[in-house]
Amino acid sequence: MTSPSFMSGHAIAQIGGTIAEVQAFCKEDQPIYLAVKGVVFDVTSGKEFYGRGAPYNALTGKDSTRGVAKMSLDPADLTHDTTGLTAKELESLDDVFTKVYKAKYPIVGYTARRILNEDGSPNLDFKPEDQPHFDLKDEF
Ligand code: HEM
Repeated sequence: MTSPSFMSGHAIAQIGGTIAEVQAFCKEDQPIYLAVKGVVFDVTSGKEFYGRGAPYNALTGKDSTRGVAKMSLDPADLTHDTTGLTAKELESLDDVFTKVYKAKYPIVGYTARRILNEDGSPNLDFKPEDQPHFDLKDEF
């Protein structure tokens, strides 16, 4: 599909759109990402869940691990932080991580928090080959 950013003025005139319409179209065309447990998933194919106005839109654009674990959309829960979660919530998190996210959506990367330490130095415990769906061909 042609990327709207490469459309010439002529092409824009042809589709007869106003600038606002073209901008809206460009936005619609953006992929939708969310992270769970520091793994970034492309959830664009789940637009009916995650798109603008969809019920789980609040989970996108960030690491929403806590919200997924607690099945909560409370803004305070839309964080990577798992402090104080119950064993049941952690189990539920792993379940959804495996059965929904890993099963349905392509992995497009990892959050900085997963690959770097707080001071920005590399996290030596991060082993790409241990990450879900890691494929050297995709990485380089
Ligand atoms: C009244 C409350 C809720 C109902 C009735 C409900 C219902 C559902 C249903 C029926 C699905 C499966 C849809 C399908 O596979 O076609 C689903 C998926 C899901 N729900 Fe809920 N839900 C509720 C609240 C929540 C809340 C508060 C969260 C907060 C995180 C949440 C997170 C999810 C997630 C992450 C999925 C998987 C979406 C995907 O496949 O990508 N749900 N929900």
